[in-house]
Amino acid sequence: MRTRVGIIGAGPAGLLLSHLLHLNGIDSVVLERRDRDYCEHRQRAGVVEHGVAEILRSSGVGERMDREGFVHHGIELRYDGKRHRVDFPALTGGRDVMIYAQTEIVKDLIARRLTDGGTLLFEAEATAIEGIETDQPRVRFTRGGVEDVLECEFVVACDGFHGIGRSSLPPELVQVFEKSYPFGWLGILADVPPSCDELIYAHSERGFALHSMRSEHVSRLYLQVPVDTDVKEWSDERIWDELSARFALRDGSWTLKRGPITDKSVTPMRSFVSEPMSHGRLYLAGDAAHIVPPTGAKGLNLALHDVNLLAKALVAADAGDPGPLERYSEDALRRVWRAEHFSYWMTTLLHRDPAASEFDHRLQLSHLEFLASSTAACTQLAENYTGLPQV
Ligand code: FAD
Ligand code: DHB
Repeated sequence: MRTRVGIIGAGPAGLLLSHLLHLNGIDSVVLERRDRDYCEHRQRAGVVEHGVAEILRSSGVGERMDREGFVHHGIELRYDGKRHRVDFPALTGGRDVMIYAQTEIVKDLIARRLTDGGTLLFEAEATAIEGIETDQPRVRFTRGGVEDVLECEFVVACDGFHGIGRSSLPPELVQVFEKSYPFGWLGILADVPPSCDELIYAHSERGFALHSMRSEHVSRLYLQVPVDTDVKEWSDERIWDELSARFALRDGSWTLKRGPITDKSVTPMRSFVSEPMSHGRLYLAGDAAHIVPPTGAKGLNLALHDVNLLAKALVAADAGDPGPLERYSEDALRRVWRAEHFSYWMTTLLHRDPAASEFDHRLQLSHLEFLASSTAACTQLAENYTGLPQV
């Protein structure tokens, strides 16, 4: 099998890349080891930055997002039993975010690629990437028990944190930067209308909690839990009780609505960057190259920014200008490191580290008070959260 760009992974990064290349007349094949249904229902992120919504819209895959997603003009910070609203447009010169689930972006992109006659091979597992220092790299893959080879001009690994892309770079060239956190998130999906109009990020003595949403009838909530938590330890009642306690306001003026929980899972938290993001004819994008803890809502957005940059670079190379492709890793890493810092900052500001002292806790509260009282302090949160256009 032969194509111009061999893409490994049908997550948001691989699918958007394939779509953007198609719009510019460049053929690709996407290899995905899971089946379509699995890819379309894997519960993950929900916040789309202003600029990323614009990328989806301007490439013709934003129609359902604009119809069914929610535009949010702010978030609420809760701490010490009090609330503070962060007003995005007022602080950023008009930017906002879109609440639209990653599952829906993946469904929209798969549908569009298939309508456009694209080749998405599900249940096709890439097993090796070869010849990346030549101009004819290859991806070996297995499908239905049969081994095959995809011959290409470029290989892009959008195969997530556990894929084969990152380990196919020469190990002596790779530098890894990472940090782990002594907690994870227990995420739930519940058939109950959201108890708020905007997302709530809550710092409490009992740990962090986040109230998000998927529709007018479905809520998405997260709880900070110890790193080795087994979901079986958390009955539905225990989850609702703990969420209610963490969101509680001092004046008792807010209550959390409860409903049937339809999905429960624990996600570990880590910060991770692997540099460089390319070598020879192999390029990495999204979680294959970097991970952020989810508190800043940046993982999905970074993955889509990477492939937007890479698609433009591949189009420029096709038109005879190899410069943007040569600079891809350096250009992508500037945004990656900004998001790494913001995600680390939001995480350490809002979570209770079991090893932290009372001194550390007082610093967190002081910083939250500063955000609530200083426009300058809040502006940097709003700029990073809605996405920085200039990075
Ligand atoms: P992925 O979505 O991971 O896609 C990679 C694809 O490659 C997968 O479909 C995989 O099956 C496929 N693949 C892997 N290896 C191979 C192979 N050898 N051959 C073929 N295919 C292969 N971000 C947030 O902002 N908020 C959140 O709440 C949040 N929650 C998350 C929860 C979990 C459990 C995880 C893992 C991530 C979460 N993230 C969250 C991060 C966000 O979802 C990711 O940053 C985003 O999915 C990255 O997209 P991607 O396309 O780079 O990778
Ligand atoms: C969601 C996930 C996040 O990590 C976040 O910061 C905000 C919202 C969500 O899944 O809706």
